[in-house]
Order: sequence, then structure tokens, then C-alpha cells
Amino acid sequence: MSYADYQYEIYLDGLRGVVPGLPMTYADLEAQAQAAMSPSVRSYVAGGAGDEYTQRANVTAFEGWGLVPRMMVSPTRRDLSVDLFGMRLATPLFMAPVGVIGLCAQDGHGDLAAARAAARTGVPMVASTLTVDPMEEVVPEFGDTPGFFQLYTPTDREVAESLVHRAEAAGFRGIVVTLDTWIPGWRPRDLTAANFPQLRGHCLANYFSDPVFRSRLAKPPEEDPAAAVMHWVRLFGNPLTWNDLPWLRSMTDLPLILKGICHPDDVRRAKDGGVDGVYCSNHGGRQANGGLPALDALPAVAEAADGLPVLFDSGVRSGADVVKAIALGATAVGIGRPYAYGAALGGTDGIVHVLRALLAETDLLMAVDGYPTLADLTPEALRRVR
Ligand SMILES: Cc1cc2nc3c(=O)[nH]c(=O)nc-3n(C[C@H](O)[C@H](O)[C@H](O)COP(=O)(O)O)c2cc1C
Repeated sequence: MSYADYQYEIYLDGLRGVVPGLPMTYADLEAQAQAAMSPSVRSYVAGGAGDEYTQRANVTAFEGWGLVPRMMVSPTRRDLSVDLFGMRLATPLFMAPVGVIGLCAQDGHGDLAAARAAARTGVPMVASTLTVDPMEEVVPEFGDTPGFFQLYTPTDREVAESLVHRAEAAGFRGIVVTLDTWIPGWRPRDLTAANFPQLRGHCLANYFSDPVFRSRLAKPPEEDPAAAVMHWVRLFGNPLTWNDLPWLRSMTDLPLILKGICHPDDVRRAKDGGVDGVYCSNHGGRQANGGLPALDALPAVAEAADGLPVLFDSGVRSGADVVKAIALGATAVGIGRPYAYGAALGGTDGIVHVLRALLAETDLLMAVDGYPTLADLTPEALRRVR
């Protein structure tokens, strides 16, 4: 079985008169999923910072590169596997942390749906701090697929440490600390609806179930949810500086990855501070509308990383995008909105479809264009097309 075989499965179903129930193009996925979402979830997921120029640029940046076809290679088997933090992963794809993935699924348990999709596909999930179901209930759904915990670092260090130690005990295999969201960005779609899901008490299970967080409250969240939410507001965003890195590093022996790194100097400081990986991302254009596509930041980040694993996301919509990100230096490639839309349309099955379609397209592009392994995808495999 190769990832490419997904297409034969679909064509063979067609012989029985069965056509796919889930969309085959990203445009259809986006349109159908947005129609299936409630207005508040739709604007939160689809929207970004400012006029969303950066969000669009993240996507169109991939069109600035083309893969050079190589013939008489005809790799009948492609190897998409990757070594990451001592683990051998079947593919370079992963699910980026999406804080409202819980709300995206129609049953309101999208965290569990994504974890089950990870188990079925071998594609790891980075679970957000902001989940509907607490992490201890998410991890058992991973099956044999490793999972990662994404930390929004609370200002209360003891709560931060409690979250990380719970993540270790639950069985996560790495901690991703997100640096670009210590303050929410200017998001006109959400401002128009005056809607920020967490302020309405959504996706706060990891906090409300946390013994240290609970110890800070006069009454438990079940008795006074409004006071618990207000306490969450006070401690959510920690304006971290490089002086905090030794503390972050000291919290865990698990692989530590910093998310939001787009400048080579920041890579070097992260390396000096003993991190295990950097994660090049601009949060899918949700945080700052500064205009630089994440893909354009990737080559310099990868060069400065100099062998340290580089995770990448923002704007990945197709197998061709996965291939290009790998060629520009990513070790592993994440998607955000695409799997949120899969969850909205079909829960676990919807996410599995999105992941399998992306992997099939990645695999087929490597087959047709003559790149047998990810190591063959180097900057020399790409040409600037505009
Ligand atoms: C609805 C939504 C919620 C998100 N929540 C988080 C989060 O909780 N933590 C985090 O580090 N990133 C979060 N992100 C950012 C993603 O991890 C990722 O960087 C981004 O979605 C990648 O861009 P893409 O959506 O274009 O694929 C979120 C993204 C979306 C769309």
C-alpha cells in the first residue's frame, strides 16, 4: 500500500457507482465546510488578522515556486518517512494546533476526532492548550501515533508547569511553545461579531481541570464559570522574552519546540537556549498582518537551524505545497484550517480524508516528477516561477 493508492480506492468505488462524499479540491472543502459551520465558528476559523493579506500571501507564496520534473527515475516506491526527535514518522505531515478544533466537529468533540484521525493515518496531532476535552482524554485516542502538546504559557508559572507535567504524564512526546499569541491579534471578522470563543467559556477544559488553576479560584469552575473565565483571561498571555527560555527548558525533558520563529537570529537564540526544534509559522496569518508569507521566511530559518528540526506551517493546501516546503528546508509540514474543515464536514472521517488526499497528492507528485525520498527534495529541485 502506498499513499498514492487512495486514488485507486476512489476510482474503484466509482465502478460501483460510488463517488466521494467528501470534496476533492481545497476550494470545495473550504466552501462546503464553511457552509456547515455556525457563523461564530466560521468567522473564527476562516478569519485572520487585518484585511487578511498575510493569510492570502501564505497561500499564494507557494505559487512562486515550481518543482522541476526529472525523468527516467520512475520511483515505483517513494519513501515519505522522516526522523523527528528520535521517532520515525511515516510521513512529514502533522496537524498544527487548532484551539477550536473541538468546536469544529458537529458533535463538539473535534479534539477527539483529530486524535482518532492521527491514530488511523499515522499523522501526528499537535494538541492545543485550548481544547474541549482535557488532554488526558485526548491522548489515549492517538493509538500508536505520537502526539505533541502545544503550550500557551500562562503568566502563572505554577499553572504552566502543571500543564506541562500533565502533558508528560498523559503521554505526549514533545512540547510546542507558541510565542506569537501572548496577545490576540486584530481580527476584524471576530471583532465584527464581538466573538472570542474562550471568553464564552469554550475550549478551556485543560485549565478548568487543572489542580493548580483550580486552587487559584474561590469557587470551582462548575459553580462559578464566569469567575473562572475571568481568571483565565488574567493568566492566558505571557509576554515571554529570551530570559524565560531557561525556565521553559527546565520544565521538561521532552523535546521542546518554539513556534512562531521566522528570523534566523531567533533560530540561533533558540538553539543556544537548548531547544530541540524550531517551528516556522506566522499562525496562518491570524496574529499579525505584517505581510511576510511564512514560506518566504523558511529558507533562512532552515539555514540557521543547521540540522535542528524545522517544523513549518501557514498556507499549506496541497501535496505540491508539502513538497515545496520540504524542498525549502522544512523537516515536517503542518496544516491548520484544512483539517478543521475536514472535521466540520465529517468528524474523524472528514479529517482522515483531508490527510489521505494530501498524502496521496504528495506521493504522486514525487512519483511523477522523479523524487524517490524527501532527501531528494532540496532547493535545487525548485525554480522561481515569478
Ligand atoms: C481556528 C484556528 C485556531 C488556532 N489555534 C491555535 C492554537 O491554539 N495554538 C497555536 O499555536 N496555533 C493555533 N492556530 C494556528 C495553527 O497552529 C497554524 O499555525 C495555522 O493554522 C497554519 O496555517 P493554515 O491555517 O493556513 O494551515 C490556530 C489556527 C486556526 C485556523
